[in-house]
Amino acid sequence: MNELNQACEAFRALLEEQLARIEHMDSTKVDFSSKPVVTIGIIDGDGIGSIIMAHAVKVLETLLADEIAGGSIVLKRIEGLTIENRMALGQSVPADVLAEIKTCDVLLKGPTTTPMGGKMESANVTLRRELDLYANCRPVSIPEKNIDWMFFRENTEGEYVLGSRGVELPGMAVDFKVTTDAGTRRIARAAFEYARNNGKTRVSIVTKANIMKKTDGKFTAIAHEVARDYPGIEVDDWYIDIMTANLVNEAIRDQFQVVLLPNLYGDIITDEAAQIQGGVGTAGSANIGDRFAMFEAIHGSAPRLIEQGLGDYANPASILKATAMLLRHICRTDAAQRLEQALDGCKLTVDVGASTGAEFAEAVLQAL
Ligand code: IPM
Ligand code: MG
Repeated sequence: MNELNQACEAFRALLEEQLARIEHMDSTKVDFSSKPVVTIGIIDGDGIGSIIMAHAVKVLETLLADEIAGGSIVLKRIEGLTIENRMALGQSVPADVLAEIKTCDVLLKGPTTTPMGGKMESANVTLRRELDLYANCRPVSIPEKNIDWMFFRENTEGEYVLGSRGVELPGMAVDFKVTTDAGTRRIARAAFEYARNNGKTRVSIVTKANIMKKTDGKFTAIAHEVARDYPGIEVDDWYIDIMTANLVNEAIRDQFQVVLLPNLYGDIITDEAAQIQGGVGTAGSANIGDRFAMFEAIHGSAPRLIEQGLGDYANPASILKATAMLLRHICRTDAAQRLEQALDGCKLTVDVGASTGAEFAEAVLQAL
């Protein structure tokens, strides 16, 4: 059967490509505390992107005014990562845009629309792969409920890496999930290092290894191997289904600290966690690699809000939290703290539902 042979050939090519990917995993980290010039790429994205990004840029310009004037920080606007341009060119991230992006150290990015169906990959997925942003760090904290979670989601493998490259046979479709030793080791190490450096005493590994025996089985085994280097940190295993229940179980949820998961489970559970915190509009997200890093809101471009003419009410808290994470990542700790404190304060004083994003952002600027 011709189709079957073609599918087998396609699968062989995918396997070869994935084996080659392991060979090229970068491992030299940039030291931002001593880098003379740090370039921050600014990407608006689609939908509510340009609205919330304008607030974030104002905040960066305020906090980093001296460094921008002195040239040690450069804010560089990257154009062309819009759904219109991407569709016109048929590229999820146009080649010239990617080249510009690679001249930056870190990116602050508004949400980008992913066309449903069709062949075009999500710009996020392309960027995470091209920049090798393997650690997706998503904090969720609700002090009054004693909740302080940090999710470490593997960001370049699992169901995502070949998500646009499954195969179809008559009457059947197959997608692939890929988990590598090296890819798992580096995300597990990132989670345990974070735990150790931030006084956390517990890392919870979340998979569905009872069903996805090879891939999630490997993820669990390697995570435990890494855990042996961190004897002071307690490790426990959960399956993703019960973990989604745990997050709404008030009797135990405040005991979770650092959660380590493969890509797709991490995607799903961090939306749940963000909702518990007050909605996806309240959660920031860091995509960290050894060379590059990208900071963004956890949510999408909210086309419905734009269609209803309500773009001005988009909550900029998520992108501002991402901005604080960016500042921490580039070792601008004081600026990060000022922003975090301002955000905490405004959470109490501004009624986000009733005020516009601009009113909220203005309150944050005042509080800096
Ligand atoms: C996220 C988003 C992305 C993902 C989409 C936009 C591709 O949901 O960052 O969580 O699935 O990872
Ligand atoms: Mg998501």
